[in-house]
Amino acid sequence: MYSFTNDYNETAHPKLLESLLTKAKQKNSGYGLDDYCQLASEQIRQVIGSPKSAVHFLPGGTMTNLTFISHVLRPYQAVIAANTGHIAVHETGAIEATGHKVITAQGIDAKLTPELIKPILDEHCDEHMVQPKLVYISNTTEMGTIYRKQELQRLYQFCQQHNLYLYLDGARLAMALTAEDNDLTFQDLAQLTDAFYIGGTKVGAFAGEALIINNLTLNQDFRFTMKQKGAMMAKSWILGLQFLTLMQDDLYLQLGDHSNKMAKALQTIFSEHGFTFNIRPQTNQLFINIPNRLVDNIMQNYSVYAFGQPDSGHTCLRFCTSWATTLDDIERFKSFLKKLSQK
Ligand SMILES: Cc1ncc(COP(=O)(O)O)c(C=O)c1O
Repeated sequence: MYSFTNDYNETAHPKLLESLLTKAKQKNSGYGLDDYCQLASEQIRQVIGSPKSAVHFLPGGTMTNLTFISHVLRPYQAVIAANTGHIAVHETGAIEATGHKVITAQGIDAKLTPELIKPILDEHCDEHMVQPKLVYISNTTEMGTIYRKQELQRLYQFCQQHNLYLYLDGARLAMALTAEDNDLTFQDLAQLTDAFYIGGTKVGAFAGEALIINNLTLNQDFRFTMKQKGAMMAKSWILGLQFLTLMQDDLYLQLGDHSNKMAKALQTIFSEHGFTFNIRPQTNQLFINIPNRLVDNIMQNYSVYAFGQPDSGHTCLRFCTSWATTLDDIERFKSFLKKLSQK
């Protein structure tokens, strides 16, 4: 059965596997102190135009979120996220397990705005409540939408005015930065966040995320927290080498762009059949309202996520494309859907 379930169900992009194979017998220093982590950090600092930013390589997204967030917050401080935010919904309470409350606001298109954050600050006004200190957003968001530059500028300005940190989860940053509607650059992210991460797991890496800390006061002793949380891999050089390859010749953005283009082709097919979308597609995740009578047949032939029922006649299915999706895969789905609709 072909899978449109997610963008991390293939092993790794051949260029990354090739680089790992070439270096298979080489001896490397451990725990991120190897040449590849150093070179990849340098490369990332160049790409984001921020020579002073600190770069750390961690094995996965949840690990990156909980390690960074728990590092910067004092014991009584809390993080604000959209109600759909990954840390609020899909991380098994990982942030709360570090002792920090996640306060949610009903996002607009899964995004936060200053207007949504302000009432939370007003409500949390004294020491009988937790103190909101960090704003968590992701780009792309959990629903595949993206932040425009002006939205990020407003958020960062608001955070600075209210003594809050802004942290951006970039598990799918490649897809966000190559979306048709995007006007943000890597350089903007270095200027407009206290920290963000460049996600590798969903963009062709075997595994790994590159955390970039722009506000260096937050970097103090970060490696101690990494090690204590189990986020510092002995073989970190595997992550460094992958990021070195990903960040060379724009491979990272090319893979994001490819994922988006495959999703666009799928979107066209669904639109031609008159299907509607639960949220306007912007990147590589499509949330499609499928008539109930077709759902079983689709799910028997294609692996996808079911996302509840927008109304009594439809089920929302998520189709996710990746760096490895091919036009042939899309064409096969097109023929399948055509036959299904004629039944
Ligand atoms: C936005 C976002 N952040 C974090 C994660 C967590 O990543 P991991 O599964 O590597 O812990 C995901 C995974 O789907 C995600 O979509």
